[in-house]
Amino acid sequence: MIKTEYYKDLTKMNTFGMKVKARCFMEYDSVADLVDIEFEELARPVLHIGGGSNLLFTDDFKGTVLHSNINFIEILDTPCHSEPSCHSERSEESSSPVLVSVGSGVVFDDFCDWAAKEGLWGAENLSYIPGEVGASAVQNIGAYGVEVKDIIHKVYCYDTVEEEFVSFSLEECGYGYRDSIFKKPEIKGRYIVTHVVFALSREANPQLGYGHLRDAVMEAANQNITPAAIRKVIIKIRKEKLPEPSVMGSAGSFFMNPVISLEHYQKIEAAAKAEFGPDYKVPHYDLPDGMVKVPAAWMIEQCGWKGKRSGGAAVYDKQPLVIVNYTGDAYPEEIIGLERRIIASVKTKFGVELHPEVDHI
Ligand code: EPU
Repeated sequence: MIKTEYYKDLTKMNTFGMKVKARCFMEYDSVADLVDIEFEELARPVLHIGGGSNLLFTDDFKGTVLHSNINFIEILDTPCHSEPSCHSERSEESSSPVLVSVGSGVVFDDFCDWAAKEGLWGAENLSYIPGEVGASAVQNIGAYGVEVKDIIHKVYCYDTVEEEFVSFSLEECGYGYRDSIFKKPEIKGRYIVTHVVFALSREANPQLGYGHLRDAVMEAANQNITPAAIRKVIIKIRKEKLPEPSVMGSAGSFFMNPVISLEHYQKIEAAAKAEFGPDYKVPHYDLPDGMVKVPAAWMIEQCGWKGKRSGGAAVYDKQPLVIVNYTGDAYPEEIIGLERRIIASVKTKFGVELHPEVDHI
């Protein structure tokens, strides 16, 4: 069924809590519904949203906002099991990946919760990330050393240009850090994700290399390390560091972590050691290609922005990578003003250009 509403209030459909309206809002709840939508006739521009957790509406939306309500989670038999000659066990019992098909409208954390309860490994580190499954595959969401691409098997879409259903293998999705082919300007908006097939595992595969995650999990779970135990620890860490969208509006990390050359990093490190002493350690991650990723949170904090307010907007005091709608009444201009000033000061102090992770609409 397709539900259409005009001049729809989107305040509750964007986690930043911007008080904006959409001229037309359409929600569909099955893959088949997409065939009935006359894409050529929709008021333009057309924007497909998920949980609205990675965007900043800068004004009322003059076109059509689409939203998927396709909600299912289903374990698939591995291809081998459909072959009559194949006598191996079902995917649930073997060590082969457990393929799980999930509708694009499923809240991503509901999927993580389901997987943890099923004892399936792979999604636990991604627990409590806001947003929905369709957007997760576009954005390549990530946290605590895992990106969603690590568990994606295939992405199924509706091609609004050719009006046909298509699928993309993991390689075809072209995943990078918070990036995929679905974000490339030439094709942005063309493909609507209908469902994603994830490859999970019944074999223990804890990913505990990020920061102090291993210690936190060992302390909380002792020897009994399960997807559910890791999920519980991750949720606790996220709740301590990140604002709860229902309490204070935000879109999670506002900026991406910049990647710079080793030479550039060494200059930043030398300046920090000159300022704070020779033992000072600049947080960073060495990448396989010789480049260095430096947490934007650290740079923003060094520029003195942590906890700073500007009108209704503020830099979150526990994690400066997050800009918050502090009063609940912030105007988009106040958020953008803060964004511009942060970018300018990081550029001046470190010579690094920050790029927003959040989509400006
Ligand atoms: N840091 C500071 N000051 C702070 C907070 C952090 O200097 O107040 C430095 C610390 O050195 C810390 C480092 O920043 O070790 C990294 O911090 P954190 O582990 O919180 O991760 P992040 O790089 O800031 C990324 C993702 C988050 C994800 C976390 C955890 C991006 C843009 N953000 O943040 O994703 O939850 O790692 O894995 O990559 C999101 O995308 O919305 C999001 C929340």
